[in-house]
Amino acid sequence: MLKIRPAQQYDKDDVLKFCVNTFDWGDYIDQVWNSWYSDPNGRLIIAEYKSEEYTKQLNAGRQSSTIVAVSHVHLCPNRKMIWLEGIRIRSDYRRRHVATELIKKMLEYGIEQDAKESAAIVSANNVPSQILMQRNGFVKISKWNYFSGHKTQNGLSTNGYKVRVANLGDINGIFKYLKSSEIFKLSGESYVDMWRWYPLDPTTLHHLITNKIVLVAENVDSSIIGVVIVNKDDGEQFQILYLDANANQLSVLKHLVIYAINLDYLKIKEHERLQIFSPQVPFVHSVMKYIGINQCEEFLLYKRKI
Ligand SMILES: CC(C)(COP(=O)(O)OP(=O)(O)OC[C@H]1O[C@@H](n2cnc3c(N)ncnc32)[C@H](O)[C@@H]1OP(=O)(O)O)[C@@H](O)C(=O)NCCC(=O)NCCS
Repeated sequence: MLKIRPAQQYDKDDVLKFCVNTFDWGDYIDQVWNSWYSDPNGRLIIAEYKSEEYTKQLNAGRQSSTIVAVSHVHLCPNRKMIWLEGIRIRSDYRRRHVATELIKKMLEYGIEQDAKESAAIVSANNVPSQILMQRNGFVKISKWNYFSGHKTQNGLSTNGYKVRVANLGDINGIFKYLKSSEIFKLSGESYVDMWRWYPLDPTTLHHLITNKIVLVAENVDSSIIGVVIVNKDDGEQFQILYLDANANQLSVLKHLVIYAINLDYLKIKEHERLQIFSPQVPFVHSVMKYIGINQCEEFLLYKRKI
């Protein structure tokens, strides 16, 4: 008998035992367990198998069961969307619809919270997960590139436009630009924060601009021609969370990236690690190559109404 229930702190060791070499690079559940477990806006859930033997034992006053899966659901700051993450099924319990049951439970959490939409990210290499998402009614919304590398010295002179930190007076100009941007459409109108993809709407943009993490490129006539959102995460790792400039303006995109990397208040040191998320557009690769970043992975953003 399969039971899905909220995780307890004492489940941690059992769960971490099967979350070790999930992917060829390992796994990260051990690093996020504590924050997911105590997430006030989410739920960490586990699946456990109880055999018939278990029921008999229970009647005899003894309990034992096998924990076979884990996942986390998080209510996004706009409270309209839930984010599904960390689905892990013990390898010997796969293809028994355990992940499907976890997804159902996470969607139920979304309904309880009155959220309207659910979303998740899947690596382009992870075909089983892609099928799982599709079988559960999720639709592929956008493709993303994740670049990683290290800061190197690079300069570029501007040509008739300037790059600067955005202020609140730019909101309308930025949205006018985004609404006509092919890249914004391709992004599913989203940006990334701590490996979660959120809708990039005016309220969110207001918040990001207040935090001084939105940069714009503007033309001589002051119209916006490119937008970048940056961050340094909790581990002080520099990230670009959104990257957008007109395809005909490759140099604008280069400038935005180089300006971001060299922003004084982000204090990014030479050779520090950079992580760059970008909606998948071919010309971004040449910009990354220019700044010395060649490592790239692809991710797919899935969404489903709830
Ligand atoms: C991907 C994963 C979560 C699937 O879990 P699962 O419990 O086996 O999935 P389910 O049994 O609910 O599968 C539902 C459907 O998805 C599809 N599916 C799942 N795994 C599949 C696989 N390996 N190959 C092809 N299709 C697969 C099937 O259509 C399946 O239905 P069916 O068995 O009736 O044909 C599991 O393999 C896993 O833990 N993988 C490693 C971690 C991981 O990739 N997590 C997701 C990160 S986004």
